[in-house]
Amino acid sequence: MTIQRAAAVAHPNVALIKYWGKRSDGSVNLPAVDSLSVTLAALRTETRVAFDPALAEDELLLNGVAASGEQVRLTACLDALRAVAGTSLRARVESRNDFPTGAGLASSASGYAALTVAAAAALGLDRDDPRLGEVARIGSGSAPRSLYGGFVELRNRADQTICRQLLSPTDWPMDIVVAVTTEAGKEISSRDGMTQSRDSSPFYAAWLDSHPGDMDAALSVLGERDFGGLADLAEHNCLKMHAVMLTTRPPLMYWSPTTLACLHHIRQLRKDGVPVFFTVDAGPQVKAICLPAAADRVERELAGLDGVLRTIRGGLGAGVRLIPVDD
Ligand code: DP6
Repeated sequence: MTIQRAAAVAHPNVALIKYWGKRSDGSVNLPAVDSLSVTLAALRTETRVAFDPALAEDELLLNGVAASGEQVRLTACLDALRAVAGTSLRARVESRNDFPTGAGLASSASGYAALTVAAAAALGLDRDDPRLGEVARIGSGSAPRSLYGGFVELRNRADQTICRQLLSPTDWPMDIVVAVTTEAGKEISSRDGMTQSRDSSPFYAAWLDSHPGDMDAALSVLGERDFGGLADLAEHNCLKMHAVMLTTRPPLMYWSPTTLACLHHIRQLRKDGVPVFFTVDAGPQVKAICLPAAADRVERELAGLDGVLRTIRGGLGAGVRLIPVDD
């Protein structure tokens, strides 16, 4: 039997209306709330998959290093695809990120999006099969969003994940400047953190209750291309998520002093008329989203702040795509 190979490229995404929390109904990694994201062109994950009859179990090399900690999630994802394809072949997976892994830059989103599409192609499955979103979600709740480019909506209905592009990268161009404040991985994974928040934060119920209103409002400001409205809403939703994190027991304090300095600076820029807003995920990096004309200034000012190690800048990215195996 021959080895079946394919490779794919995906970009991380950053949520403007966040996913934090999982259903407690026994479903496989189903988010408790819907979310809205932008896909980032500047960061990139490349994943190669080979289903090989000689393998006894799935293997993962992440940035060149064997990643046994990911084994359970990886095999769960591949099992779902094997069930669809009707095969028991095991896979060797090689994945590389050109940015810090596991540090609040959504490496698991791009990683599982690229894995799902590459593995599906290697097994001869249809790229547009709606089940691919479900498979990617098993790996990471935010991964279905990286299947698409531009502005992306993810809805959870019954036990299903429904994901689609709302605006293409050219419908409403934006630039994203990432202020990298550490290259280290985070101490508590999103997965563990979300469970702890659900079980212990007194704000968790309010987060769930107020979330549909944020999603509805976001769709309306997107429709109107209302940058100020989107800025207010995204910052509010981000800070609300961090309020849940901070009031989790034990607390999830993902920010560093540099994170906070960036947030204050971005707020001041907006007061001064610069079209920019911030968002922060489960790590200390800050993402500044701005209209392209403001990106030079935003990047220059963030790069000049104490504690900012470097910046990464780019526009809205495309969805996941296949690349030649020997690229
Ligand atoms: C704070 O998708 O990484 O970035 O489903 O457990 O893999 P798992 O979590 P993950 O969580 C993302 C959380 C977030 C907000 C967001 O991207 O919506």
